[in-house]
Amino acid sequence: MPPARDPDQVLIFDTTLRDGEQSPGISLNVAEKLEIAHQLARLGVDVIEAGFPITSPGDFEAVQAISRQVREPIITGLARTHVADIDSAAQAVRDAERPRIHTFISTSDIHIVHQLQSTREDVLGQARAAVAHAKGYVEDVEFSPMDATRAELEFTAEVCAAAIEEGATTINIPDTVGYTMPQEFTAYLGRLYELVPGLGDVVVSVHCHDDLGLAVANSFAGVLAGARQVECAVNGLGERAGNASLEEIVMLLHTRRADVGAHTGVNTHELARTSRLVSRLTGYVVQPNKAVVGRNAFAHESGIHQDGVLKERTTYEIMDATTVGLDANSIVLGKHSGRHALRQALEELGFNVSGQALNTAFKRFKEIADKKKQVTAMDLEALVTDELRDDDTGYALEWFDVEASSRRPPHATVALRTPDGDEVQGSFTGDGPVDAIFRAINAATGVDARLREFRVDAVTGGQDALGETSVVLEVLGQSAAGQGVATDILEAAARAYTRALSNGVRRARAAEQAAAPEPEVAQTP
Ligand code: KIV
Ligand code: ZN
Repeated sequence: MPPARDPDQVLIFDTTLRDGEQSPGISLNVAEKLEIAHQLARLGVDVIEAGFPITSPGDFEAVQAISRQVREPIITGLARTHVADIDSAAQAVRDAERPRIHTFISTSDIHIVHQLQSTREDVLGQARAAVAHAKGYVEDVEFSPMDATRAELEFTAEVCAAAIEEGATTINIPDTVGYTMPQEFTAYLGRLYELVPGLGDVVVSVHCHDDLGLAVANSFAGVLAGARQVECAVNGLGERAGNASLEEIVMLLHTRRADVGAHTGVNTHELARTSRLVSRLTGYVVQPNKAVVGRNAFAHESGIHQDGVLKERTTYEIMDATTVGLDANSIVLGKHSGRHALRQALEELGFNVSGQALNTAFKRFKEIADKKKQVTAMDLEALVTDELRDDDTGYALEWFDVEASSRRPPHATVALRTPDGDEVQGSFTGDGPVDAIFRAINAATGVDARLREFRVDAVTGGQDALGETSVVLEVLGQSAAGQGVATDILEAAARAYTRALSNGVRRARAAEQAAAPEPEVAQTP
């Protein structure tokens, strides 16, 4: 028997690794996805949607690795109603402590006619068959009628009722294109509860996109209407304008708990760190004025506000920075700190690093500590996540030389390790040192990557701050991002470019595979 549910608890279903990863340019490797999943578990989310296993071997591998290594949260994989999708999701989550399969099909006529080129009758049959097939693998099955808020309510109700009859345990109502409005969504869900009495026996969930900036407001409206699961993503990542931002919905329910009467099981103190980790690994910067986790979310600029906060914090603050973990940048290590101190500091930050990974982290820590007097928690986070970015499926930077002068065009030579373990070198004379390095990397790999965006940030304040670079490239028709961290901006840029190029090559290969013939479609009963 599953434990009795607290009727006031809103389950947090995190889709950063699935819908979030569908944001343009994001391409996470398995180690990066695992690190994010471990952090999501520390954050205390209830469900991790770890990927869409049928879409690529990389996605499958990541869902499988997360299922095997991340305990506590439910781990789910997404699947269309196709038999092959469900088989793949089932295999990927098989070793999870608490596996779930999440299957979906559109119920709006716009999608049925134009995208699926099918009929309502067929959609109803596919939904039934898919849930029944998934139930053959796992007890916990979620069903989503995609584009529900633009679909005829009565038809969506019929499909949801069929999914419940087949054993779905969660019914998720997606506002796929971010079209609904809070009062409309409340009314929609109210009517759905009337038409589908079985909804009272399952978890009702909402999944809102942010095309009109209403994702969090609509999710909240869903909770007020009775939903007890919210699908959201860290930093609001997701298709187009993104999903409901996890940190915003969590802090809304936390801050107004007394008035709303609903709560989550999230450890809010981990919110800022989770946001930083996801931002760093995806290359999606958090805007300074972003609610809850933005750099300025607790900064007071006007004299009147500063005066008020100095006298009494609550004059201008409805949340405390410590509650969301935005106070974490205490100095942790100095130049003479040893391996043991580094390991302990990393453990405090939630990173379990040992063996070769600890040796590498220690080597990089020493390089940084030689140049920087004080190494902070933020530096350590940046350093460890930087190490996760290289894996043996991509190129890795070995070394570079660059000759720069105001009298001659700069010339760079780079050496890279290929996925097969060989060293390749390339040279180029460019318009500037960064341009010369980037083009030398193209020459070494033989890949004609084009620079689309290049950004440099400092990890912390101060002249000796670590530099963090972010690069977006167009590679073989794919947009791909990469990041790099180092005390030397040129080295950080070279690392970022190499990773973006590797991501682009991986994406191009996955796109080729996706273009292969469609898998078998589930039978309509
Ligand atoms: O936006 C959407 O409809 C989705 C579904 C797969 C739940 O992401
Ligand atoms: Zn979505």
